Amino acid sequence: MNIVILGSGKGSNAQAIIEAQVSQYIGNAKVSAIVSDVPDSGILKVAESNGIEGFYLDPGPFRTKLDETAERVWIEKLQSLKPDLIALAGFMRILKPAFLQAFPGRIINIHPSLLPSFKGLNAIKQAFDFGVKISGCTVHWVDEGVDSGAIIAQSPVRKMHGDTLELFGQKIQAAEHMLFPAIMRDLSTGVIPFPIQ
Ligand code: GRF
Repeated sequence: MNIVILGSGKGSNAQAIIEAQVSQYIGNAKVSAIVSDVPDSGILKVAESNGIEGFYLDPGPFRTKLDETAERVWIEKLQSLKPDLIALAGFMRILKPAFLQAFPGRIINIHPSLLPSFKGLNAIKQAFDFGVKISGCTVHWVDEGVDSGAIIAQSPVRKMHGDTLELFGQKIQAAEHMLFPAIMRDLSTGVIPFPIQ
């Protein structure tokens, strides 16, 4: 299973996936490339330090989506990489129908809350500020909405008394680093089916 990771941030999930690949935890799944909309992002440094192809692609003028020209370039580049799975790991843009239709049933995302609670930005802070005692992370199929696609799997994380926002966030990220590779393993072995075969 050929995985291409898209991300905009520090890349800790990408690093965890690559480590899972090195230890053969994710079976025959392999990260062939990492693509980012942020030229100096940590995730591109993760690619470089692990000897994986990293590409910066211009996202165009908008902050939360790709404009039409950029979208065409992104789709073409990704098609040339022939991914079986596109994994969004901290990719900060909403994908529009043309993009989704180019890779039907092949795009997953990780989100740092137990969806459908706390969608969107700053999900860890949203949950913390609300005062929940359990949050966690979710891996889901990507659809046209924001964090709204069908849920594949979730990991709960307890917020203990005295946990700061920072510590709570670290616990949720640690859970992400276990859950995301586990889902890739299960997709690659067929334990979890793709919605379109
Ligand atoms: C993760 O918390 C993920 O859930 C969210 O963005 C963050 C990315 O972190 N979508 P990293 O770049 O993998 O460290």
